[in-house]
Amino acid sequence: EKGNYRHFMQKEIFEQPTVVAQTLGSYLRQADNSVALPQFDFDLSSIKRVTIVACGTSYYAAMVAKYWFEQFARVPVDLDVASEFRYREPVLEEGGLALFISQSGETADTLAALRHCKANGQTIGVVVNVPTSSMAREADLLLPTHAGPEIGVASTKAFTCQLAVLAALAAHMAVKRGLMSRKEEQEVVRHLLEAPACLNAALDHDEDIAAMAHLIAPARDVLYLGRGPDYPLAMEGALKLKEISYIHAEGYASGEMKHGPIALIDEHVPVIVLAPSGPLFEKTVSNMEEVRARGGQIVLISDAKGLEAAGEGCMATIEMPQVHPLIAPLVYAIPVQLLAYHTACVKGTDVDQPRNLAKSVTVE
Ligand code: M6R
Repeated sequence: EKGNYRHFMQKEIFEQPTVVAQTLGSYLRQADNSVALPQFDFDLSSIKRVTIVACGTSYYAAMVAKYWFEQFARVPVDLDVASEFRYREPVLEEGGLALFISQSGETADTLAALRHCKANGQTIGVVVNVPTSSMAREADLLLPTHAGPEIGVASTKAFTCQLAVLAALAAHMAVKRGLMSRKEEQEVVRHLLEAPACLNAALDHDEDIAAMAHLIAPARDVLYLGRGPDYPLAMEGALKLKEISYIHAEGYASGEMKHGPIALIDEHVPVIVLAPSGPLFEKTVSNMEEVRARGGQIVLISDAKGLEAAGEGCMATIEMPQVHPLIAPLVYAIPVQLLAYHTACVKGTDVDQPRNLAKSVTVE
């Protein structure tokens, strides 16, 4: 039931503070601020490599996780979309962990990749939203996202819950590998537990974003830019916009823009920049200058500090709360989802059932 919402997608966007809290609640122990994963018999301290495979939005969650696994657990990560992975003869050494991320747990290519990894001696971990799905049944380590049924074809709450699980897993792996002290673990847990309140703060900008959608709706092409863990968010933003508003959009790593896409920039191509303040911010500001010098129109999504430093001269800005870098990808998911949602509403498309798409892709 949609309740007071116009669409399932809108309802699911607004459910995120609650469902992310639910998901975190099952992976974090608040009594002593520790990470608690389901018991399974595989030694995370000795892993040589993690292989992560997924499709679409779940793949972008996997991309974010790669940054976390490398940063916290110092473990090499191999990452691919399932349709490429399964046919490229990947090198899988005995004793590796293979992780599959899927809302439905039924995506045909991801399931085939899982079976391939199983046949090649990998321990199989799955992050799924449907606990009765095929992938859940075939897993050695089942890590459910507790997002509840997701009806809108465009994935929203499943994505942020996947990120919540993957952040907990990265921290847990770091602890097991002796790279995160008890004190650091407590700190990470505290920051993760701040996520629901920060998601709420991001949702407070719904009306501003609805107004801004009128600036995006006439565009034929839109570019999204981000760095580090916000690069996958740029790709996710572009995918959401394509899927439901049918506007062509591309997500790029900010530093890659000058290697090609900059040729597209003119006053008709809005450039949406995702840039929380932090060590990489200045780099992104110089990318924004490159856009501006070519007459490009920028929408800057950042926190108060970032907007103060670089908000001037932008076509529009969206202020996010000041957040710890670990939870930034969860929080910055909200404005890109809302921008796609409201742009689709302005265009009058079928938000929950976009053309040519199915909720669960069970064919190759
Ligand atoms: O159920 P899955 O997570 O395996 O689905 C993967 C993709 O088909 C899915 O994320 C798709 O890209 C969504 N429509 C994105 O909004």
